Amino acid sequence: MKFPENFLWGAATAAAQVEGGYLEGGRTPSIWDNAPAQKIRNGENCHVACDFYHRWREDVALMKEMGLKSYRFSVSWPRVMPKEGKINEEGLKFYSDLVDELLKAGIEPLVTLYHWDMPAWVNAYGGWEDKRITAFFLDYAKAVVEKLSDRVTYWITFNEPSCFLMNGYMQGVHAPFKRHYLALPKFTKIFMRTNAETVKLIRKLAKKPPKIGLSFATGAFIPKDENDPVSVEEARQKTFHKGMGTMNNRWWMDPILLGAPVSAYGVYRNGGKKVKEFKCDFDFIGINHYEAFNYSLWGGDKNVDRSKLRQNSLGWVIDERSLYWTVKFIYERYRLPIMITENGVSLDDQPNERGEVIDTERCRALEGFLHNLARAMKDVPVLGYQHWSLMDNFEWAEGYEPRFGLIYVDYKTGKRTLKKSAYVYKDIISTNGENI
Ligand code: BGC
Repeated sequence: MKFPENFLWGAATAAAQVEGGYLEGGRTPSIWDNAPAQKIRNGENCHVACDFYHRWREDVALMKEMGLKSYRFSVSWPRVMPKEGKINEEGLKFYSDLVDELLKAGIEPLVTLYHWDMPAWVNAYGGWEDKRITAFFLDYAKAVVEKLSDRVTYWITFNEPSCFLMNGYMQGVHAPFKRHYLALPKFTKIFMRTNAETVKLIRKLAKKPPKIGLSFATGAFIPKDENDPVSVEEARQKTFHKGMGTMNNRWWMDPILLGAPVSAYGVYRNGGKKVKEFKCDFDFIGINHYEAFNYSLWGGDKNVDRSKLRQNSLGWVIDERSLYWTVKFIYERYRLPIMITENGVSLDDQPNERGEVIDTERCRALEGFLHNLARAMKDVPVLGYQHWSLMDNFEWAEGYEPRFGLIYVDYKTGKRTLKKSAYVYKDIISTNGENI
């Protein structure tokens, strides 16, 4: 299929996962820099990561070589606001220079304001469990918007609230590693108020007319029989109204996109009179998608024999049809244009004796996912596709072992190598998806 002329073919990263330079240029540590070694696989940390902080010009050149039309990156809050009440001009300049370099290369910047690296000083006030975070975040967002919005159009307020709140404050597997199960309604509301205020702030202050969205960690159930309307309806119901459908999708999306309350398990409520205030005037919905809900260990279909299925190196099942159903179901419920802000696979990539990285499974998955996106685009407006990830990086609690990149990173030397998938993607971009 021919994709729309201005389709944003891109790739994504996040500050904490690639930048490093954690104490440079006036920056102070984030909750991820301070993660106890035993919480991260192999006791690794993100203090250096891919050293993007020093190598960003080289990385933009690689993006250009691949023909990317867009690059989604996040701004590090502690780099811009290293302590309470202080805006760090040097930190802002880093992102401003990056935006200039991208535009010079013909690459549209997509800016995420929060991709999980809360400053340690904000955490000391209680992080997402304390109302004061809203004012701190708005001060930070204001500084970024004032600095970049003469050149940046696309804004993503938050990345995957379900992950950083539930993994960070309930499961205790992500920073700040808390297990406060019953606090879910409380920190959900604090987050949603912050998000809604941030959207208003961007609308008010942006110098260029902004396009604003949020990246949801989302998915759908693939119908048992994709051609049977009864099966499709059953999958749709499970995608929004049962167990993981409620907690992963509707809990976050209904208040933010519809202003509608949700209750779950008889103990959780994100409703009340306030819920209307959480609704945002968004231009698009950011979809981060990896695995169909059918295969989830946390509420997927019973009796799935995962060992017979294709899996990424983290054990997530690869079934590319899920992107079609995710995009379709979400659009039909919320009726806003979609931007794929993340999608990809982790593999145990290694260079061969000629130094090439032949990531056959990623090439296959990339084409499969795009094929399914194209199917959905017959009925759904989709603005772009940001592959996760531009380069191998720090995979949070999983450390550096899982490799998600189109670009291979040798962490000992920092050397970058375009994987086979980068060349496949380059071809797809240069033909605007014609052969997908
Ligand atoms: C996150 C990324 C992460 C990716 C793969 C998403 O949940 O936004 O930061 O690296 O998935 O796990």
